[in-house]
Formats: sequence, C-alpha cells, structure tokens
Amino acid sequence: MQKHKIIDLSIFGPIYLNKKKLKTLLDGKNILITGASSGIGEKLAYALSEVSCHLILVARRGGKLADIKKDIEMKCAKVSIFQADLRNETEIHAFLTFLHTIPNGLDIVVSNAGLSIKRSIYHSLDRFHDFTRTMAINYHAPVQLLLSTIPLLQKNNGQIINVSTVNALLAPVPYFAAYQASKAAFDVWLRSVAPELMAKGVSVTTIYLPLVKTPMIVPTVAYRNKPAMSSQHAVKIICKSMYSKKKKYQPWWLLWGQIASVFLGNFWDFTKKR
Ligand SMILES: NC(=O)c1ccc[n+]([C@@H]2O[C@H](COP(=O)([O-])OP(=O)(O)OC[C@H]3O[C@@H](n4cnc5c(N)ncnc54)[C@H](OP(=O)(O)O)[C@@H]3O)[C@@H](O)[C@H]2O)c1
Repeated sequence: MQKHKIIDLSIFGPIYLNKKKLKTLLDGKNILITGASSGIGEKLAYALSEVSCHLILVARRGGKLADIKKDIEMKCAKVSIFQADLRNETEIHAFLTFLHTIPNGLDIVVSNAGLSIKRSIYHSLDRFHDFTRTMAINYHAPVQLLLSTIPLLQKNNGQIINVSTVNALLAPVPYFAAYQASKAAFDVWLRSVAPELMAKGVSVTTIYLPLVKTPMIVPTVAYRNKPAMSSQHAVKIICKSMYSKKKKYQPWWLLWGQIASVFLGNFWDFTKKR
C-alpha cells in the first residue's frame, strides 16, 4: 500500500465514496469551485470530470484554469472558467454578474479559495497588509460571494460547502494569527447564518481539514515531515458531503483536541510554561 494511503487510513480514517450515487445526484448540476487552479480545488475539479455536470472554476491564474478546462472537457463535465482576484472589488463584481447569467442558477458552491501565512508577530509589526489580505480572501470574499449567490442556491435547494481547517475549532497556535483569525471569522459567520439558510432549503457543510498535502504547505519547512492528508482523501470527503449533506466533517481525533483545549487551555502555553 502507498505511504499516503496508510497515513490517510490510520490517522484520518477510511472514506467510502459511492461514485455511482455522486454521478446520479450531480447530473446536470451547476457547481462552483473557488480556488480551482491549485491544490484541493484543482483536484476536486478533476474528480468531478467524470460527472455530467457544469463546473464553474475561478482563481487568479487564468492560464492554469484554461489547462484544467481543456483536460476535463475531454471527459464528461462542461467547464466555465473565470479569472478573478476575489479580493478585488471590480473583479469580484464581474464574476458575480457572470454567475447570475448562468441558466438554472447554482446548485453547489464550494468555498475553497484561501491563503495561509506563517509569520511571527515580531516579524509582522510593519506588515498590517498580511492581516488585511488574509481577511480579504478567507473572510470577506466568501461572504460577498454568498450574499450574492444565496438566492440562486435557494431556488435549487442547493448546498454551500466550506473548506475550513481544524484550527477553527482548536485553541490557536502562534505564527498563524492572520490565517487562523480569518478562517475562524468565516467559520463563525457561516455557522451563524446556517440555521436560517437550512430553514429555506439550502444545506450548509463545513469540512474541517487537518494538514493536507498541497502547494499551500510547501513553504512551511516544519510541515515537511508532519503527517498530512493526501489531497485525494480531502477531495473524497468533499465529494461525499455532496450527497450525505452532513453539516460537518472533522477527523475523529479532533474531539480529543477540543477536550484537551478546554482542560489544558492553549496547548502551546502549557508546553512552554514547563
Ligand atoms: N493545505 C492544507 O493543509 C489545508 C488545511 C486545512 C484547510 N485548507 C484550506 O483548503 C483550501 C484550499 O487550499 P489548498 O491547500 O488547496 O491551497 P492552494 O493549493 O494554495 O490553493 C489555493 C487556491 O486559492 C486560490 N486563491 C488564492 N487567493 C485567491 C484570490 N485572491 N482570488 C482567487 N483565488 C485565490 C488559488 O488560486 P490563484 O493563486 O490562481 O488565485 C488556489 O487555486 C483553503 O481554503 C485552505 O485554507 C488547507
């Protein structure tokens, strides 16, 4: 068995994906994936290539999206690509206008585009822009996107899938203040609005992922030898949520981490004090 499969099974648990069910359910559906030019978003787009659905892919790297479209359209799915920096007012407006022209609206929005920064607070004292740019893509952009697309999703009893992180539910760790604060902000926002949305037929799913092997973690040297979920495993979890419609996925051990957070406070403080 390949090493990544052993890690996925032992640390993250097995995931059985019923591909037939997925194909039937997604047939003819309009599925938006933000941040589809790389990592989890890109792998998700490829995983849905065998389904007769319409994928709408958005990211800044238009060339990368064009290559992905070419590959996928050799299979079953139809693909529309849109090059946009979702932090840019003009570009996000143009994208939202485009979304409203899609016949039959939207069925699933996978809010996946994101940015992570690892930096000590002492190296951030003159870098306020690190905090504004992470908030812009990890919080403001998905909020703005959903404010515009909720009516489209509601018409189709659609689904919102938020690609989040286990850090949103655990005591925060140093060096990742910008990332954790911005991911937690969107997590809280979405959990606050979820009951209202669900009452109107829109499903809301949050996928709390641990470390995943994608280009996002490559610059962080400390992560090189840490066990990380394969992006294929993360994609299976997201695909499964499209038919299970469960409110959340979290790894089995997260609960123990949350309990430890309550009893030990911040684990980092606990280990450093002694
Ligand atoms: N990797 C992990 O360990 C991990 C763990 C938990 C959660 N997550 C979450 O998973 C999601 C995907 O991350 P990943 O690991 O797949 O990272 P990735 O490979 O770096 O992909 C990030 C995607 O977001 C897009 N993006 C970033 N800034 C954007 C902007 N301003 N406008 C439009 N698109 C933008 C990027 O496209 P362009 O650069 O082309 O714009 C890219 O397609 C993120 O929300 C992340 O927080 C990741």
